[in-house]
Amino acid sequence: MILYFSATGNTQFLATELAEKLGDDCIDLLSRIKNNDLSEIRSDRPFIILTPVYVCEMPRFLSKYFRKVKLTGDRRVYFIANSAGYGGITGYLAKKLFRRKGMQFMGYSEVVMPRNYFIGHYPPQTRDEIQSRLINACRQTDEIAQTIKSGGKLRARYVFMFEKLITIPFNPVWSKYKMPAKDFFANSKCIGCGKCERLCPLNNISIVGKKPKWGDNCTHCMACIGNCPAEAIEYGNISREKGRYSFQKYKYLLNSGNDGSSAAKTAQRRKNG
Ligand SMILES: Cc1cc2nc3c(=O)[nH]c(=O)nc-3n(C[C@H](O)[C@H](O)[C@H](O)COP(=O)(O)O)c2cc1C
Ligand code: SF4
Ligand code: SF4
Repeated sequence: MILYFSATGNTQFLATELAEKLGDDCIDLLSRIKNNDLSEIRSDRPFIILTPVYVCEMPRFLSKYFRKVKLTGDRRVYFIANSAGYGGITGYLAKKLFRRKGMQFMGYSEVVMPRNYFIGHYPPQTRDEIQSRLINACRQTDEIAQTIKSGGKLRARYVFMFEKLITIPFNPVWSKYKMPAKDFFANSKCIGCGKCERLCPLNNISIVGKKPKWGDNCTHCMACIGNCPAEAIEYGNISREKGRYSFQKYKYLLNSGNDGSSAAKTAQRRKNG
């Protein structure tokens, strides 16, 4: 059973790829998280959990959800995070979390995907960078699926002590003070469709008079700004300069010819529906 959360589509892409390659079921956790639905999830196959990396760890609302939810049936859990290049201590913390739940941790893999986060000093990504990350990620899902099929363990790089010493005290402070929603606004292109409200995992958006209004509880996941069908959401001046990211917008880059590669097959399969 594959469980995932995805704000801008990268994790969803990896989860659905793995589901296809393993012939497994897939659950998008968004509605459970939004509704604080902690109902039991049962699986007779290993649990496979996919998440984006937020500030060197799993999103905090997601680790909170996993600490509380009852996962029953098979006790094995595989954990796959995707980041824009540095996954920090995500795997280390996940191992601790799932072991505390009495589960058998079957290892951790990290996949590098296009960066969905543009706030801060990050330069915009080129089209070539995005394309090569998507194609490499697709290949990596083949390897991950093979390992899981064979019952083996996933392996990731060694996490150094200094990474833990920096991240553990720093993250709660960053998450509390560095992710304000006050700079989000919707411009006149907004059609009042409510998608941003539906996609916010923290229910931080309400539609008032056909326009979104942001509250104070934001984790900068980028679901609202990345998925708005009218590209009507801005974050101060930053989004005007750097644009916004969603997997949907760039998935055409997987269609890189008919060379029989994993990515080409994926593109074909997605085209065929
Ligand atoms: C709030 C936030 C924090 C992030 N922190 C990191 C990070 O510490 N390291 C990193 O390499 N990428 C980081 N990223 C990038 C995402 O992990 C990456 O783009 C991921 O593929 C997004 O997945 P999604 O499209 O499923 O939401 C961050 C993204 C967000 C929104
Ligand atoms: S998703 Fe975009 S168009 Fe739809 S309500 Fe939100 S801001 Fe407006
Ligand atoms: S308001 Fe914040 S938490 Fe909600 S979707 Fe937008 S960026 Fe994500």
